[in-house]
Parts: sequence; structure tokens; C-alpha cells
Amino acid sequence: MPSPSQTPSVPAAAALSAAPAASPVSSPVSSLVSSPLAEPVVEVRGLWTVFGTGAKAFAVHQDLDLTVQRGEILALVGGSGTGKTVLLRQMLGLAQPTRGSVTVLGRPAAEMGREGAASRVGMLFQQGALFSAFDVLGNVGFALQELGTLPAALVRDAALVKLQMVGLQPAHATRMPADLSGGMVKRVALARALVMDPPLLLLDEPTAGLDPNSSDEFCALLRALHQSLGLTVVMVTHDLDTLFALSTRVAVLADKKVIVTGAPREVVHFAHPFVREFFGGERGRRALLALPEDAPATPSFPQEA
Ligand SMILES: Nc1ncnc2c1ncn2[C@@H]1O[C@H](COP(=O)(O)OP(=O)(O)OP(=O)(O)O)[C@@H](O)[C@H]1O
Ligand SMILES: [Mg+2]
Repeated sequence: MPSPSQTPSVPAAAALSAAPAASPVSSPVSSLVSSPLAEPVVEVRGLWTVFGTGAKAFAVHQDLDLTVQRGEILALVGGSGTGKTVLLRQMLGLAQPTRGSVTVLGRPAAEMGREGAASRVGMLFQQGALFSAFDVLGNVGFALQELGTLPAALVRDAALVKLQMVGLQPAHATRMPADLSGGMVKRVALARALVMDPPLLLLDEPTAGLDPNSSDEFCALLRALHQSLGLTVVMVTHDLDTLFALSTRVAVLADKKVIVTGAPREVVHFAHPFVREFFGGERGRRALLALPEDAPATPSFPQEA
């Protein structure tokens, strides 16, 4: 991840004074077919994120707009340091917008509080981020335990159910994070993110560091859970196989905003240097060729599930 000094510096005051008061949706291309049943789960409007102060201030997002509809698996792609993780953290309420709004299920994300956040949004962090001092069950049940209102036996049972849901055995419950394979760490982190049955799941590089087989298995698990739990998913990924395997729509983050959204097949043709570089290489062409003809061009999740 680049340090702040590697990012173009924009004095905060100047950057913000240049921001228009009202922020129209400015994506030059958006191919999401609007449905009368479409229901926004995440709405980002006129988002500015500025870090640092004075001469060292720099803007990561400038007037960024994004809507995520219920049932989508939206892939968020962009170069390293373009603010993808920051945007997910803002959806989780862990980071504040400098200006503009990030709304989840109709409420400002920053006002959800910790418990509210866990029951509305689950996040699989970029680095796995299990608590190394807790065993698997302690990690999965953490948010429920934190509530302080549930008997230990209930927390344990709920955590065991989630472990099973992600394909792990009860025998794994007492293992420590250091004794797990990379694929198992991802599964435990996923079980932890889902422990309070949130309708929105945020995935930050879910298959990074996995071998191709484990990566395919994890994609299959995510696809199955998306369907069976009726999840809305926002997924940051650099991995084209994961992107084409899972996403119903792609949003490209470049030039500090979302420059285009659309079905994977369409976005690959958008004229922008990042899009060309990201999708245009050999891996991009291979992944696109492997895409089934009937791959979803628009959100396919049943609206009334
Ligand atoms: N709390 C913070 N304070 C100052 N700068 C920050 C903070 N959080 C993130 N940044 C900076 O914001 C920029 C965007 O960071 P972010 O982690 O969102 O990038 P990213 O798009 O997720 O990159 P990658 O693909 O490498 O994970 C980086 O320059 C980062 O150093
Ligand atoms: Mg990141």
C-alpha cells in the first residue's frame, strides 16, 4: 500500500472548496438496468475523503457516487492505494467521510455503532485479521460474546452453526489461528463476519493469497451463501478469476471516483487506461473467454427472497 506521501497531495481546504455543493451522479457510463423493485442497500453520495492536514493533506475520494442494490455482488476494482479499503471501512462505519454521505440500509454508516454495524454489515478484512489469542470458536462468536447479553452456551452454538455454514467441522472449533491453512483462515473470518446474520457482506480481497483450488472453493462457497442467505455483497478484488466467477456488476475506482459501473462484459470495453491495463492483459482475456454466455449482465438475485 502506498504511503500518503506517494499519493498526489491536495491541500484539504483547497480540495474541499473545489467540491460542488450538490453532487450529481457523474459516472459517464452506467449500465445497471433500473428495476422498479431495485432497493439500494448502500448509497454513497458526493463522498470526499481527505487525509492529513495543511500541506500534507491529500484527497483519496473526490465527489464519489456509488449505489449498491439488494442482491448484487458488486466487484470494486481500482489500482493500489485508490481508496477501496477506505471505502469499505466507511460502509462499515469504521471510517468517516470528510464530506458527503455513506448510507447503509437508509442510515448513515457512521451512526450504526458497533453492535448495529455487526448486525447490518459483515466484513472480511484484507489481511484475514483473526484474533491470534482466541481459538476458532472464540473468533467466530466474538461479536455475540461482546454483546454481553447472551449465555455462553448460546454463543457457542451460534458459532458452531456458522462454522458448519462455511464448511468447517466442529473439530476445528478449538484450533488456534496459527494452526489453520490459508483457506481455513478465510472461512473462519467469513463465519465471524456472518455471525449476526448481516444482510450486507463486504469482502476485501477474499481470495488473495489462496492457491487456485482453494480460491475456486472459496468462490463456490461465497456464491452458495449469497444465494442461500440472500446477501448483498461488495467485493474488492484484484483477481480476475474471482471477479468473473462472482460479480453481477463491476464498479471501477479511478481518478478518485467511480468512473464506470456495469456488467463485467461491458465494463471491460470502457475506454480508460486503468480498465485497459486491468482487463486487457492475457489473464483478462482468458478469464473473459471462460465466462459462460449466460453470465448475468444485471443483478440476478431474486428481489423477494
Ligand atoms: N487512516 C488513514 N490515515 C491516513 N492515510 C490513510 C488512512 N487510511 C488509508 N490511508 C491512505 O489512503 C489511501 C488509500 O488506502 P486504501 O487502503 O483504501 O487503498 P486500497 O485501494 O485498498 O489499496 P490496495 O489495493 O493496495 O489494498 C492510501 O494512500 C493510504 O495510505
Ligand atoms: Mg485495500
